[in-house]
Amino acid sequence: MKKVEFNQILTDYKEVLPHGVFLTTKADGEINTMTMGWGTTGYIWNKNIIMAPVRKSRYTHQLIENSQFFTVSVPLNGQLKKELQFCGTKSGRNHNKIEELNLELLEVEECEVPLIKGNNLHIIAKIKYQQDMMIDNLAKDIVDKKYPEQDMHTFYYGEVVAVYQE
Ligand SMILES: Cc1cc2nc3c(=O)[nH]c(=O)nc-3n(C[C@H](O)[C@H](O)[C@H](O)COP(=O)(O)O)c2cc1C
Repeated sequence: MKKVEFNQILTDYKEVLPHGVFLTTKADGEINTMTMGWGTTGYIWNKNIIMAPVRKSRYTHQLIENSQFFTVSVPLNGQLKKELQFCGTKSGRNHNKIEELNLELLEVEECEVPLIKGNNLHIIAKIKYQQDMMIDNLAKDIVDKKYPEQDMHTFYYGEVVAVYQE
């Protein structure tokens, strides 16, 4: 794997994100990955930041709450479609998605959370800030469309500590 600059990959990332990327977490020895289709990237606190929005109902939420890091693995060429579909519809509460899909993990030196092999890009992020969405602060049209059951997101802001190209 080759290390690359975060800014170099931003356009590619934004194009692919709506189709889904892998958001991987690890806590208490459990590794899980879910499909993520929303998110932002930016620059604040003099740091490159990637923000991952995770609804409270997700198993990922439970794990990320107990971890300092998350990783994002990005299939730039439309690969791993079946896997993204599975990881976006099945919960780690009831499935060991890594084993069931035979996903290969790549260990990294920066953190305990691994990467999902077979993706073109991997972003390693260290959580610096998190915020639960407050429904009263959100425009009503979005509440009605996206949060009918009030399953709000927590926004996890991670400092980009490394980006790897596979
Ligand atoms: C294309 C796609 C994008 C998704 N994006 C998100 C997202 O950004 N945030 C989120 O909380 N769930 C998102 N989901 C839903 C989760 O991936 C799904 O609920 C998953 O089963 C959660 O797994 P977990 O319970 O193991 O964490 C998305 C699903 C799909 C198919």
